[in-house]
This record gives sequence, structure tokens and C-alpha cells, in this order.
Amino acid sequence: MKPALTEASSGIPRQVRTTLPVIEASGLGKTYGNPGAGFEALRDISFRIEEGQFACLVGPSGCGKSTLLQLLSGLMGSTTGEIVVAGEHLTGPSPDKIAVIFQDATLLPWKTALQNVEYPLEIKRIDRKERRERAEHYLRMVGLADFMNRLPHELSGGMRQRVSIARGLAQEPKLLLMDEPYGALDEQTRTKMGDELLRIWEETRLTILLITHSLTEALYLSDVVYAMAARPGRIIERVDINLPRPRNIDVIGSTEFGVLRNRLWHLLTDQGTDGGSGHL
Ligand SMILES: Nc1ncnc2c1ncn2[C@@H]1O[C@H](COP(=O)(O)OP(=O)(O)O)[C@@H](O)[C@H]1O
Ligand SMILES: [Mg+2]
Repeated sequence: MKPALTEASSGIPRQVRTTLPVIEASGLGKTYGNPGAGFEALRDISFRIEEGQFACLVGPSGCGKSTLLQLLSGLMGSTTGEIVVAGEHLTGPSPDKIAVIFQDATLLPWKTALQNVEYPLEIKRIDRKERRERAEHYLRMVGLADFMNRLPHELSGGMRQRVSIARGLAQEPKLLLMDEPYGALDEQTRTKMGDELLRIWEETRLTILLITHSLTEALYLSDVVYAMAARPGRIIERVDINLPRPRNIDVIGSTEFGVLRNRLWHLLTDQGTDGGSGHL
């Protein structure tokens, strides 16, 4: 099985491909409630993520990260601005192009891991043989070869989240959006899952936008980090992360990593928002 965005499948040389935006947001704003009288959650958000990039959005809780993810996934309409995904305006959910992974695994409790991964493919009317092959392929990729027939309650929290990642990957989307996917997991499992995600990204070269409030996680994984501030939620800086790849856990102790972490820390805490509470 070929991953979604191989050079061979797109037919476009790598140096050209890397300049194509998979998603581009321009002037995005979101006001909850009545415009003018409601709560302005996001203001004038603009950015682009290129094919094959690993991007992170970081910011204190309440700065509008999940709101932004809902706009980018087409689950909620914006008040201002526009989103273009793979050259087309986004007007609603687009499961063929965008897969979304939330903090909680949201699996169907009566279906096995395999059936959960197959389910969206069934809805897309992908034939039985292909959906089985795809589901097995991606469950193996996330390390669940031996757990495909387990029900969600027979799996650990980390394993359930792996199933939901496999389910997202199996859709072979152009963009994988993840909203604090490891937020509910313990620190050790979280680090392991981050490593695993890096390996999967290196293998598939998928375009990923991960939302997190962990600076370490953001720096460890990303090519580019967008730092957000609250009230109203906005992007305050784009930081390119040129740490060498492939990365392993040792990079976290490097001087370069420390410098980047410091810079982001100051950017986020100097905003006088919830970031000052040490939540980062
Ligand atoms: N449906 C909603 N109605 C009104 N306000 C909301 C709604 N959802 C979120 N908010 C508010 O918008 C702000 C941003 O929330 P959210 O996007 O969840 O932030 P984050 O994910 O960064 O923690 C918060 O102040 C939150 O209370
Ligand atoms: Mg959130």
C-alpha cells in the first residue's frame, strides 16, 4: 500500500511540491454569538502549510486553538476570512482531504479496532477488500498488529488513540489535523506517541497540523511552529524549526533546542495571558 503523498503518486518533483500549500488560511476570524456583541475568539489568522510539512500551533489554553481547528476542518464556519485546501475553497467538512484527530479517541465502543478504522472507509463506499487491507496496514503502522480484534474498552488510552490515528491515516487525507491528541495521556506515553508520530510522518510524508500546549512537543516534532496569544486569539509569531532530522529524544537536550524553547516561552508568556500561569 502506498502512502497518500508519495512523489510517485503526485507526479510532481519534490522541489516543486514543497512550495504548494496544502492549506492556506487568510484573515480568519471567529466571533461566537452575535457579530459585534459576541465573543471574539479569533482575529485575522493567516498562514499556509506546505505539502509534507509538520506544523504545530501552540498557545495557552483558551487562546482559540480548538476553535481554529474546527474552522480548518470545515466543522464550523468562520465569521471572516477564507480557507483554501489543496486549491479549493473549504465550505464544509471534507473527509476526502482532511482527517481530524481529537483529544479523546471517539471510537465506536461496539466495534473492534479494525472495524473502527474500516468504518469511515465503508461510508466512503470503498470496497471490502481494499478497506480491510488499508485498515490492517495502518493499524500495523501504529503498532497494533496484535490488537486489531480488540474492543476499545479492552485497550489502554494510548492504544485507543493509536486506533484513532490509524483511522485518520487510513483515509489517506491531504492533511491530518490533530487537536492535543496526547493531552489525556501520561507524560511517558505521550513522549512515546510523539516519537511514533514522527516515524509515521517520516514514512508517509503526510502534511500534519498538530495543536498542542506543550512547547517541547511542538519543537521536537515540527518544521514550523505558530505561536498564538489569547483575547482575541491570534498568531503572534511564526518560528521555523531547523533542527536536524531525523530527530530523536537527544535533540531535546541540545543548546539549539533550549534557545528555541526559551524564545517561544517568552513569546507566549510575555503576552500577559493565561500563559503566565505556567500552563505551558
Ligand atoms: N461554542 C462556544 N461558544 C462561546 N464561546 C466559546 C465556544 N467555544 C469556545 N469558546 C471560547 O472561545 C475561547 C477559545 O476556546 P478554544 O478554542 O476551546 O481554546 P483552546 O483550544 O486554545 O483552549 C475560549 O475563551 C472559550 O471559552
Ligand atoms: Mg482546545
